[in-house]
Amino acid sequence: MTSLALENNASMTSSTGANAARILVVDDEDTIRLVLAKYLRTRGFDVATAESGDAALEALSGSRFDLMLCDVRMPGLSGVEIVPRALEASPDLGIVMLSAVNDASTATEAMSTGVLDYLTKPIELQVLHDAITRALHKRSLLAEQRRVERAIREEVASRTKELELEKAHLRDLSVGMVEALVNAMEAKDPFQRGHSARVGDLAATIADYMGLAPDVVEEVRIAGRLHDVGNIGVREGVLNKPGPLTPEETEHVKEHVDVGRAILAPLHHIERAVIFVGDHHERWDGQGYPHGLVGDNISVGGRILAAADAFDSLISRRAYREPVTTDEALERLRGAVGTHLDARVFEGLRAVVKRRKTMVFLDKMPA
Ligand SMILES: [Fe+2]
Ligand SMILES: [Fe+2]
Repeated sequence: MTSLALENNASMTSSTGANAARILVVDDEDTIRLVLAKYLRTRGFDVATAESGDAALEALSGSRFDLMLCDVRMPGLSGVEIVPRALEASPDLGIVMLSAVNDASTATEAMSTGVLDYLTKPIELQVLHDAITRALHKRSLLAEQRRVERAIREEVASRTKELELEKAHLRDLSVGMVEALVNAMEAKDPFQRGHSARVGDLAATIADYMGLAPDVVEEVRIAGRLHDVGNIGVREGVLNKPGPLTPEETEHVKEHVDVGRAILAPLHHIERAVIFVGDHHERWDGQGYPHGLVGDNISVGGRILAAADAFDSLISRRAYREPVTTDEALERLRGAVGTHLDARVFEGLRAVVKRRKTMVFLDKMPA
């Protein structure tokens, strides 16, 4: 591969400028390597040489180059083989292949892997110079394009993050406002105080135990905190009635589910939590309300809320009865599996309550 057509040999001088483009000349043939390097130096480039693919990769890893002029056929790694590795090490590197054979398939292969130009030997040095100048120009355009794309990606990522934070903030704010309403309502009733917060906490722990995705667990927690917001539509005399309710009063109390869903409906960002709230009085056997959904047709969050709600009610003091122990509550709810409760959810409740009993959970339970 020595058939280079050289020109201007007599006028070669070394005139490397401070801002000269750095070129790595890779060729296994000493003569070609030296001639090319010498010529390119006379044209003002800062040139280094490598005699093999491995040496080229080593040079690229140790120093920054603008362009690599690379022979195709070399012992060891071929020119085509080092292209992807060179670009991986130095993404902004411009590459021009130089081969003794006019091998169309090699040229196509090389061009498709990020090579800017493909030249065949013998080559006029002026043609080589023009090709290198063109490649350097193309390389700087591509580098600029990549820089702009990167800047756009970063900008989009940062705007998206800001929007997400804003969305989360709005969500917290709107949920917090409804929660404040629930807490204010519950605070008036010593038997209800803290009920919704406890249901939210317990329901989220069950959801987590059941392996639900973290975002679903959070929606279950929110749904638990807000599940009885519809009580605001229940007449006070009925809500706080110490004794059993008349059939009319029972029907009236049931309305709290639809009222709650209507209050929460505008909060589109917690859509799934609103579905869970709407399902918190459905029963596994289809005897619940408001829709009489059966089994798996009830949202998983609705099924979890039903169990957490029932458990918290049992262990809470009521005007007409004393609280039961957690073991007693679990025993009673075990009897409701298949009718009131989903067996899988009950298993989660049982495991979570047992685990919490051994931890500092009981201080969060109502007296
Ligand atoms: Fe309820
Ligand atoms: Fe409740």
